[in-house]
Amino acid sequence: MGFIPDEIIEAVRLRSNIVEVVSRYVQLKKTGKNYTGLCPFHRERTPSFTVTQEKQIFHCFGCGAGGDVFRFLMLKNNMNFYEAVSFLAEQAGIAIPSDTSPVQKEMDRERESLRRINSLAKDFFHHTLQHHEAAAVARRYLAGRDITPEVLELFQVGFALPGWDNLLAYFGRQGIRPEEVARAGLVIKKAGGGYYDRFRNRIIFPIWDAAGRVTGFGGRVLDSSQPKYMNTPETPFFSKGRNLYGLHLARGAVRDKGSIIVMEGYMDVITAHLHGITNAVASLGTALTAEQGRLLLNYSKNVVVAYDADAAGVAATIRSLDLLQELGCQVSVLSIPDGKDPDDYLRKYGCQSWERLMDTAPSLIEYKLRQATSTLKVKTVSDKLNIINQVFPNIYGLKSEVEKEEGLKAVARELNLSWETVAGEYKRYKTNKGKKWTFSDNIVKTKHTIVGNKERMDARSKAETVVLQLVLDNPELGKIILDKMGQAPFKNKTYLKIFERCLEVAKRPLYQPVEIIKDLEDEERSLLSYLLAQEIPGDDPVQIMNIYLESINRCYRQERRKNLLQEISKHENMENGLPDHDLLREYMLLQRIEDAEIAGDQGKIDQLLEEYRQFESNIWKYPREGIDG
Ligand code: GTP
Ligand code: MN
Repeated sequence: MGFIPDEIIEAVRLRSNIVEVVSRYVQLKKTGKNYTGLCPFHRERTPSFTVTQEKQIFHCFGCGAGGDVFRFLMLKNNMNFYEAVSFLAEQAGIAIPSDTSPVQKEMDRERESLRRINSLAKDFFHHTLQHHEAAAVARRYLAGRDITPEVLELFQVGFALPGWDNLLAYFGRQGIRPEEVARAGLVIKKAGGGYYDRFRNRIIFPIWDAAGRVTGFGGRVLDSSQPKYMNTPETPFFSKGRNLYGLHLARGAVRDKGSIIVMEGYMDVITAHLHGITNAVASLGTALTAEQGRLLLNYSKNVVVAYDADAAGVAATIRSLDLLQELGCQVSVLSIPDGKDPDDYLRKYGCQSWERLMDTAPSLIEYKLRQATSTLKVKTVSDKLNIINQVFPNIYGLKSEVEKEEGLKAVARELNLSWETVAGEYKRYKTNKGKKWTFSDNIVKTKHTIVGNKERMDARSKAETVVLQLVLDNPELGKIILDKMGQAPFKNKTYLKIFERCLEVAKRPLYQPVEIIKDLEDEERSLLSYLLAQEIPGDDPVQIMNIYLESINRCYRQERRKNLLQEISKHENMENGLPDHDLLREYMLLQRIEDAEIAGDQGKIDQLLEEYRQFESNIWKYPREGIDG
């Protein structure tokens, strides 16, 4: 949403101090030039969350979250960009000119109108359920499911009468036009003109955001007809996957109990409340989304997943577990016996039995192991190794050594293997994982395992990283590089993009690397904050740059030599085929350079490099891009 003029955004940024803003939420300690603390976006015991005053960015070396002060507020407070800027603008005493952003004004107006319509509809449905004669069937239905009037009141449950225009007529009486009600998804336009109610003959569950505003509705049929549930359609203002049902009511209990229970459905959460289990929310669909995961994490890191025990529930559970763990939650899984859901179980066995299930809920690793051993035949060692490899990624993702050891112990116990075997296998797994790990291309996949460990990168990635860091620190170097190399030395596309944006931003009078963030996608932003948050090694930038540029060149030559060799042997295999003379010459030259490098003969190296440069500028048959792939 770029409806605030850039100058205003930059002014707000300049007037807001990221260290001060972050300190309101995170306890920061000064370490060297930077500040560090425990990351608010994932669970950790040793601080890897870094804020730099000088560059006005934050970055977590544990989970990869990173960005500027606006990004921080967006993640922490669930704000959109506009809200984050407005929030800080207000504190800085900067007015956001409203007449310059008609689109934003229109959106604010729209949001306001939808809120009002949703709130009116909620009251109308609720009032209908309580008082309307024709709602007796719904009242009986709910009473049959043991729901008390108090809980109906708490969740503002309502009823949509069977007719086609009850709500429509109500809004008509309020003087609200049907087009507006249609935008809230409550009525639907007919092909031949006119409108009709979306929700008919259904129990209505208002869906609220964390701040307690009604953003949408779910409606359940009274019998076994299909679809069982119907929801407000997805709009920019409402998305089921961005909410957790019941969160506005659960917040206090989550804080008191220190944990949050995630269930699947409306009825599960309502029945949970009925039994005094007030720290429960529902994801309202099978799989938990990442946004819901982050929302959870704002309230508690201890998450108990209590999904239905049917097959879909189990599959969804496993996906949700991995997601939650990646985000930094400490997850356990409550398995409900006999294929029941929490609602059925609580109604039948009561909350004491439920508490017993809670107390014995297995951790993520234990759950996965049990799931695997109960569905697969585990006989041979290789069966066990197979299962092991399914849970090692989870153990690897755990943040502390203690937890990892607990996880490995669980593996040994559940699979009946010795500690030595399991520990040995895990060590092997770790080593292999390290080998496959590449910094540049896998950043999305391994987001939660990005660590500030340049040792694990190959030489080329490491060199590219340092060179880009130097350029970010001083864009003048970027021009020198382009002069020297003739092109940007980055194989990594994101590096290249950041490099180009950096030179662009640096054309403005006051260079601030944080301004590059604006045009970047999520992963790219995380990479940028990573690069900015790190200390640059050494103190002579030009010298360091030359060393790493040379390293990039060396990597290039090595690859080139490998490719030439392949090319040459292809020719040799062909009958009568002689390799191209230039290919051979270039290959020999590269071979001699490498020999000189191994011998450490600097004079010779320089001389050969000069010869190679000559060669390259004369014969340029094989462009770098093509043959390097
Ligand atoms: P009851 O049958 O009343 O106990 O509801 P439930 O909450 O136990 O339903 P179920 O376990 O079948 O589904 C869990 C959640 O998935 C529901 O609360 C809904 O949010 C969602 N859901 C289930 N069926 C449908 C459907 O037909 N359409 C839509 N949009 N959502 C559904
Ligand atoms: Mn149910």
